[in-house]
Amino acid sequence: MQSALDPAGEEAAQVAILFWVMVAGGLTVWAFVVAISLYAARWKRNTISEQAAGRFILWGGAIFPAGVLIALLAYALWLMPSLRPFNRQENPDLRIEVLGHQFWWHVVYHRADGTRVISANEVRLPVGKRVEFALASADMIHSFWIPALGGKMDLVPGRLNRLSLLAKRPGLYRGQCAEFCGTSHALMAFPAFVMEAAEFEAWLDQRIMVSAGVSSAETGRKAFLREGCGDCHRVAGTEAHGTSGPDLSHVGSRLTISAGQLKNEGGNLVRFIAYSSSVKPGSHMPAYPKLSKDDLSSIAAWLGGLK
Ligand code: CUA
Repeated sequence: MQSALDPAGEEAAQVAILFWVMVAGGLTVWAFVVAISLYAARWKRNTISEQAAGRFILWGGAIFPAGVLIALLAYALWLMPSLRPFNRQENPDLRIEVLGHQFWWHVVYHRADGTRVISANEVRLPVGKRVEFALASADMIHSFWIPALGGKMDLVPGRLNRLSLLAKRPGLYRGQCAEFCGTSHALMAFPAFVMEAAEFEAWLDQRIMVSAGVSSAETGRKAFLREGCGDCHRVAGTEAHGTSGPDLSHVGSRLTISAGQLKNEGGNLVRFIAYSSSVKPGSHMPAYPKLSKDDLSSIAAWLGGLK
């Protein structure tokens, strides 16, 4: 599910073809060099004239490999423009804004009608639609990469980069930060869920309609606000308006927590809240081991109920 050689998107398919063409070109040069080395070493030692050897070195050692490499370079350069979003004339069907943080992803869906849905640490896309990602960073250089769907693109502080993807097969894929950005760089992943277009629209509608703060576990909401969690996290429909941590509206419906690291199930939410700095070294979220068991479990139950 995180393989560039099992493409599920238009861009990834081009990258996979490029990879195999490069492998074939490299193997051709390698096989040729091995063949002439064996020929020279085993059968024809000292039997060719100096002039023939010179021609051999010129053609076999310079012209042939240079020809193959130039052909591969020309093919790669020819392929490159189609992977660049600004070369595309058509408007994307959907725009998704992604802001990289140490070590999580802020995700905003911009629909054609102007409505926005804020999420974090998970990307959902409709199959068969052109999606344009606007990529920026709040701190370090990160890199956004869903190998099964396309090439990677850096998130650079102070810059806005764009990446255009078209998913061709529904399914659950894995994305990963592909640029070293600190201690928990390896733990900065995210699920990329490609859905049927209608299912995706319904999912977005639901994110807009449902007042996210409503969940049956009222005591959890109170504890969450009392402990100041809302200074860093936003939960739509409550007084929690923080923006320095991941948006937790609808966190209960996410597949993972801690940016692709833990399944969103069982005691993982409690574990993350109580021991965030050991679960995710370098995380800017302080650990809360001092919270009582009751507070921890009621906060986790409330968050888990935010679908
Ligand atoms: Cu973010 Cu590596």
